[in-house]
Amino acid sequence: MRILTGCQVTSDQFHLGNYFGAVKPFHDMCLAHPEAEKFLFVANMHSLNKVQDGSLRRNALNTLKLYLACGIDPDDVFIYNQADIPAHAQLERVLGCITHMWFMERMHAYKAAIDQGKASDIGVGTFTYPILMAADILLYDATHVPTGQDQKQHVEYTRDIAGKFNNMFGETFILPESIISESVGTIPGIDGRKMSKSYNNYIGMLDEGKDLMKKIKKIPTSLEPIEAPKDPDTCNVYAITRLFLTPDEDRELRAKYTDGGLSFKRAKDYLYEKVTALLTPIQEKYHTISDEQIVDMLAQNKNKANAIAQAKINDVYQKIGFTI
Ligand code: ADP
Ligand code: TRP
Repeated sequence: MRILTGCQVTSDQFHLGNYFGAVKPFHDMCLAHPEAEKFLFVANMHSLNKVQDGSLRRNALNTLKLYLACGIDPDDVFIYNQADIPAHAQLERVLGCITHMWFMERMHAYKAAIDQGKASDIGVGTFTYPILMAADILLYDATHVPTGQDQKQHVEYTRDIAGKFNNMFGETFILPESIISESVGTIPGIDGRKMSKSYNNYIGMLDEGKDLMKKIKKIPTSLEPIEAPKDPDTCNVYAITRLFLTPDEDRELRAKYTDGGLSFKRAKDYLYEKVTALLTPIQEKYHTISDEQIVDMLAQNKNKANAIAQAKINDVYQKIGFTI
């Protein structure tokens, strides 16, 4: 079993949506499979589609520090930098040549751009994004790919592209399984829409104190009086709070909603308490990790990652007739 995932570095920190939707499920999966090999890489070649002001380096350092602070153990998880490995771009080229336009045009992200009338405004790299993602996965013979829900289609693309290559040139790639933590779903932001960097509606992993409280206070709530029984399932505060609760705590909180007598101020104070309890130790750990530690780790892992990826690209080059 080889578990592999990538993290984009489109911001200098990540948010609770990323944490509960992607980072924690990955971490939980690592803990559940001590025997498996685990690979995690900085997807900076993907992130370049969005970040073009030179800040990718800073973003990558901070993002990796946060991963480690969240408990990802670099002795258990092999962590590397996608851009250090030329084979990602090499395989992307090969796979791009055998993939048709009609196949790519079904991609959700591209269809959304068409619906918004923005199809000509996206970069070519955004259009070919799933092909690079297929290369990321197939180079390393990954068997299991944990991601957030929105990435499921991309892993399906990977399987299709791998199957096509195998049919054309003989068994070369392992078809990976997509691992989605269905119970988490989409975490809402402080305006009720999906929590996302693009909407600037997020609670960041490094948020604290007054700034954190200010964000929580902004979460829209209904105008019902305190005494009124309330439906937790339509409450934006509950939708975030539930992520932090044990089953017992969840039952208790739901009862407080449905019994009436719970003020939204109290519900927000409780959320603040829960967020702080999760984030404070992560933030403390984060501040103890230096840039040098991350740079050293990536430098150490570069050769091993290149050796694995290069062996696969050599096999591919042989089969397609590039090696002369
Ligand atoms: P953003 O929308 O903030 O740019 P990314 O696209 O970088 O987030 O997401 C990185 C990972 O985090 C993806 O696997 C995605 O599924 C997960 N993720 C992002 N936002 C959420 C959310 N609101 N709820 C659940 N998972 C999320
Ligand atoms: N597209 C993923 C995301 O936005 C990041 C990513 C790039 C990835 N390549 C990958 C995830 C390969 C898993 C496997 O979250």
